[in-house]
Amino acid sequence: MIMPLKPVIAGALVLLTLLLGGKVQAEEPVPAPEQVKAAIGHLGPVPVPPGNPLSAAKVALGKKLFNDTRLSGDGSLSCQTCHLPEHGYATLQALGPAYPSQYERRNSPALVNVAYNQPLIWDGRAPGLDQQALGPVKNILHMNNDVDLLVEQLKADGDYPEAFRKAYGDAGIDAARIASALASFERTLVFDDSPLDRYMDGDLAALDAAQQHGLALFLGKANCIQCHHGPNLTDNQFHDLAVPEQAIVDNPQILAAIRFDAQRMGLPDWAQLTRDPGRELVSKDPTDRGKFRTMGLRNIENSPPYMHNGALATLAEVVAFYDRGGGDDPHKSPLLKPLGLNDAERRDLVAFLRALTGTQRHLLLE
Ligand code: HEC
Ligand code: HEC
Repeated sequence: MIMPLKPVIAGALVLLTLLLGGKVQAEEPVPAPEQVKAAIGHLGPVPVPPGNPLSAAKVALGKKLFNDTRLSGDGSLSCQTCHLPEHGYATLQALGPAYPSQYERRNSPALVNVAYNQPLIWDGRAPGLDQQALGPVKNILHMNNDVDLLVEQLKADGDYPEAFRKAYGDAGIDAARIASALASFERTLVFDDSPLDRYMDGDLAALDAAQQHGLALFLGKANCIQCHHGPNLTDNQFHDLAVPEQAIVDNPQILAAIRFDAQRMGLPDWAQLTRDPGRELVSKDPTDRGKFRTMGLRNIENSPPYMHNGALATLAEVVAFYDRGGGDDPHKSPLLKPLGLNDAERRDLVAFLRALTGTQRHLLLE
């Protein structure tokens, strides 16, 4: 009997894999929409603290403040200088920018869906947007300004008293109102309705074949989901990935900024530091050294470079980094293991990360 060629080859392959111990590397099945929804899901309504309800007038005032260079001591930087809308409200610089003549030691993070993050900052030092907003204004490395002086300057300005009256019912200007308006604007930076959201709603064609394969890897073999889960794709926890620190170690001015910040945060060995201690600055727990916050991944393709120090230039570099099992530090997270991805798998994982890009939600504000 003559067997058709294909079954013969298939039969031979089965025999071969049986001989090799039965380890057939099956293609990962693409997770069904309900399964993805359970692990990730849609972003809910934007969280708003009871003391600071959103209104159109407050958001407009916050946007005006966000774009105003007078918030910085020398009038050269606005919030937007370091948080550019076209780059996911981050910048393309690895570290900084900084106040002129100063050096920033960290990457300016994206503000996409920032209202859902708790706590804020790479080391989690700020509990929420209202409390954080005046931090950069006062920070010597960022805007290096005096808030009392800023309040007087805004009172003396042609437009601001009227904008505060519209937002708060009277023309009074103080630090708390400036912070609450800035935070309100930042709460409107909600981005969803991505191809992944449409897939979770049952539109299987929203992800192409490469992205579906990448999704399977994200939830399966690459196991990104163990830290990047939930609607904003973060566990809001802190982990040490041992991201390369070369640019920092090589620049004594950046090291000076790290030591200055650690002294300010009350870390006992601040003067001996040779790298950014991360979460330990806040917790004072030595086992937290080198840990940083898991960042959300929505619209992530728009805000390279990546990680707390911008050490990884592209999403392909990020995936290659995880594929190697992260960096070299012996204290790195035990959750990181070499993944053994092939070229096609690395490419499809990047394709999936691009399917997390959505559009800005139109918030109905009274
Ligand atoms: C000179 C650059 C610079 C300026 C100006 C600046 N930022 Fe930032 N921003 C950064 C950097 C760098 C970080 C990360 C800081 C860190 O981890 O220590 C950051 C962090 C943040 C975060 C935390 C985001 C998160 O997910 O953790 C928010 C919110 C934020 N900035 C809002 C603002 C606002 C509002 C203004 C204006 C009042 C502002 N920034 C001005 C560089 C800047
Ligand atoms: C052990 C937890 C953990 C795992 C597993 C993990 N991540 Fe991360 N991810 C983090 C943390 C923590 C950061 C920030 C680390 C830092 O800056 O030092 C991060 C940062 C990132 C960033 C950069 C975010 C930004 O705004 O700069 C991307 C992209 C990313 N991860 C994608 C992935 C992918 C893809 C996988 C799977 C291959 C994965 N992560 C697995 C915890 C994890």
